[in-house]
Amino acid sequence: MGAGPESRLILLCGLPGSGKTTLAKRLAREIPAVRLCPDEWLADLGVDLFDERTRARLEGRFWGHAQDLLRLGQTVILEFGFWGRSERDEKRLAARALGVPVELHYLAASIGELCRRLEARSLESGPGAVPVTRELLEEYVELFQAPGEDELRLFDDPSQGRRE
Ligand SMILES: Nc1ncnc2c1ncn2[C@@H]1O[C@H](COP(=O)(O)OP(=O)(O)OP(=O)(O)O)[C@@H](O)[C@H]1O
Ligand SMILES: [Mg+2]
Repeated sequence: MGAGPESRLILLCGLPGSGKTTLAKRLAREIPAVRLCPDEWLADLGVDLFDERTRARLEGRFWGHAQDLLRLGQTVILEFGFWGRSERDEKRLAARALGVPVELHYLAASIGELCRRLEARSLESGPGAVPVTRELLEEYVELFQAPGEDELRLFDDPSQGRRE
C-alpha cells in the first residue's frame, strides 16, 4: 500500500529549549498532524528522561508507528531533536521510499537564548520538560550537528499557505 496523497513527514531539529514542542503543537493543530514527542511519553511512563537506552527504543517504536500512519495518509511530526546528520538522512530517504514529502525544520537559537527559555519553562514546568543546565547545554552544542543550507535544500518545502 502506498502513502496517502496528503501525508508528509515533518522532522523537528534543535537543541533543548529551541521550540520544537511549541512549533509541533501549532503544526499538529493547523495541518492537522500526529505529534510524537519522546519526552512526554517517557515522563508519562515514569521513565527517567536521561535514560538514553529507553529513549532510543521508544524512538525506534515511534518510527515504526510513524511509517504506519504515513501509509494511512496521516501527517506525522517527529520531535526527536535530530542532532545527527545521519539520523536526518535516514528519515529523509525512508520517507522518499514511502513516496511522502519530508520537511526539516531547524530551530536555531544562541546558548543564552536557550538558557533563558529553559529557565522560564522550568518555572511553569509540566510533564515532559527536561531540566537542562547551562553546562549541559554547552556540552550539547558540541555534539549537535547543525544542518547547513545544502542539507536543508534536500528536504521538501513546507506546504503552501502554512506559516512558520
Ligand atoms: N520562538 C520562540 N521564541 C521565544 N520563546 C520560545 C519560542 N519557542 C518556544 N519558546 C519558549 O521556550 C521554551 C522552550 O520551548 P519548547 O518546550 O517548545 O522547546 P523544545 O525544543 O521542545 O525543548 P525540549 O527539547 O527540552 O523538549 C518554552 O517556554 C516556550 O514557550
Ligand atoms: Mg519539547
